[in-house]
Amino acid sequence: MHRNNLTVGLIMLMVTGVTYVHSHARASQAKQGESWQARREVADSAARRGTQFIYHEEKVPAYTLPDPLVMADGTKVADAEMWRAKRRPEILELFRKYVYGRAPVGRPKGMTFKVFDLDQKALSGLATRKQVTVNFTGKEDGPSMDILVYLPSAARKPVPTFVILNFGGNHTIHPDPAIKLSTRWMRSGRKATEQSRRSSYSRFSVEKILSRGYALATIYYGDIDPDYHDGFKNGVHPVFDKLIDGKRAPDAWGSICAWAWGLGRAMDYFESDEDIDESRVAVLGHSRLGKTSLWAGARDERFALVISNDSGCGGAALSRRRFGETVKRINTSFPHWFCDNFKKYNGEEDRLPVDQHILIALMAPRPVYVASADADLWADPRGEFLSCKNAEPVYHLLGLNGLEVEKMPALNSPVQKGRIGYHIRTGGHGLTQYDWQQYMDFADRHFKGAEPSSRDRKDIVFSCDFESDNWYKEFGMRSEPERVEAVSSDPARKFEPLAGRAMRIKVERDGHYGTSILYRFKDQVGAEPQEIYFRYYLRFADDWNPAGGGKMPGISGTYGRAGWGGRPSNGRNGWSARGQFNRQVDGKTPLGYYCYHADMKGRYGSGWMWETEKRGHLQNNRWYCIEQYAKMNTPGKNDGILRGWVDGKPAFEKTDVRMRDVDTLRIEAVWLNVYLGGSWVARSDHHLYIDNVVIAHDYIGPIQ
Ligand code: GCU
Repeated sequence: MHRNNLTVGLIMLMVTGVTYVHSHARASQAKQGESWQARREVADSAARRGTQFIYHEEKVPAYTLPDPLVMADGTKVADAEMWRAKRRPEILELFRKYVYGRAPVGRPKGMTFKVFDLDQKALSGLATRKQVTVNFTGKEDGPSMDILVYLPSAARKPVPTFVILNFGGNHTIHPDPAIKLSTRWMRSGRKATEQSRRSSYSRFSVEKILSRGYALATIYYGDIDPDYHDGFKNGVHPVFDKLIDGKRAPDAWGSICAWAWGLGRAMDYFESDEDIDESRVAVLGHSRLGKTSLWAGARDERFALVISNDSGCGGAALSRRRFGETVKRINTSFPHWFCDNFKKYNGEEDRLPVDQHILIALMAPRPVYVASADADLWADPRGEFLSCKNAEPVYHLLGLNGLEVEKMPALNSPVQKGRIGYHIRTGGHGLTQYDWQQYMDFADRHFKGAEPSSRDRKDIVFSCDFESDNWYKEFGMRSEPERVEAVSSDPARKFEPLAGRAMRIKVERDGHYGTSILYRFKDQVGAEPQEIYFRYYLRFADDWNPAGGGKMPGISGTYGRAGWGGRPSNGRNGWSARGQFNRQVDGKTPLGYYCYHADMKGRYGSGWMWETEKRGHLQNNRWYCIEQYAKMNTPGKNDGILRGWVDGKPAFEKTDVRMRDVDTLRIEAVWLNVYLGGSWVARSDHHLYIDNVVIAHDYIGPIQ
């Protein structure tokens, strides 16, 4: 690291560092809702027990973090391409060489998977249970691990999956008597017993995970490498180690690296299991296994989401803060966890060419989640938060949101809007139901709704496929809206699913109102775009035959002031370009835009129908892929754009729209509005279905 190479980022960090010290000196305990601070009594008592460790913010030495966006030779990382091609590999190599060590590359030769247990009616029908032995070398006496998998019966396959190493044997996570009792080395030093079944049950909540549509895969970490120092004679090390003159290299892999490598082998298995969606696997770990999940996610980009629970030193916490557990202490108590080179930094943290924020940055562009606990000062909650914060520049370089908060959040106030999630909860070191709940919420945001073709696209802002029971939460709503229901079948109205469940909207006889669901950019991603693509699938039910026209989903910026319901736009108050439908012509419903704009005459918006090749004329009982694009005009100029596509084909274009005269009007929301008419009412019940909503910065197009 080049110490004199102070970049703006570093200076900013030092400034924040100073602020923390002052605010901490003023108050010993944050009030409800305030940015988290360690409770004084917790810090004092920890400091009394461990006098050689830092537990008070004011004792943290000044430090300078290496910049994730500056190459080792001092060159600035100019763009995403350079990050990908140069800096990321450079950083990975630094972590291999100086921290975790070097694991064998690629899939081991001869590795086999053997399913030795399969029950499709496990847990009273809630799940399919599988147990699989992964034999790393395929040799009878070679090392192997057992993966226990629970797949939710109710979910559409392949399913998104959480994979987690466990501390006590697979049999400890659930009382299910069919789970094989681990026969391997146990942390207790004793053989696993029937009594130890379910002893970690409270940490897992298998049923809850399944009910949310996720599979759970778990592996006993001792299968891969027993967690004690015996000179690397047991587990996978002796089988794969290449000794030089009978000795291990200073960058030979430690146990954390071996566990992380084992997770990669589980991923190899997932790729071969048709029930598991290998492109939606979240890797999660607690404590030393949280360090492990971070390294697993960094070295193996197949993990789509990486979660660290209370991982602390050598995990998510910044080493340079030396708060709680230090590099020296961890290398002394656990000499087998890291590579030998790491020991050179005992008490010499400032010389490390990396720090743990750069490890977090290695997850980009994938989502990553870090969680801390209030009383777990040993793991340095603030250092974990600061790692996330200082990983942000890499996400920004890639055009993505990171954490998007400046200060540590209050207790129990998860931050989940960008690609970096963080929370600190009440309580001590442990993996709790509360933690799991946050991880599943975060996974819902990133995993649900994006079909395979779009899942790895970085420009996707939001997607929802209505598979989750909590789908409305994805839009930021507290409860399911009225007249709306996620359905997977509806034979009376000739419904056929597009992909699993869809949102059914009902307009009741004698009524107008269908729904009004807003995805607000400010609330969800922190900023309002100037242009956006919005795609959804639309199907009019068999009973759809309204007597007149009405409103459909679209894009808006009403700001609660103007742009709907007879509140005309004047260029400064608000605007909207919702969808519009007219009454059926020859059995087809014409679709278009209903636009409130600065050139509108009278109190109501302009109707611009999608007439290109009549693509906007839609039949009942058929799914259509509807896509809209809006680009805000230069304030005062007639250069705003509205476009429309049906099933991937252009159906409408207008390039002279004046939505605004001031820059403060932007794209505030995607507005899923369904409303029949104005002056007339529905003569019978009408239904329509919406599915697979995607909002993105680039053209989305139909599901492949
Ligand atoms: C110890 C160790 C930590 C580790 C923890 C655990 O406390 O010092 O670094 O995270 O064990 O794995 O439970």
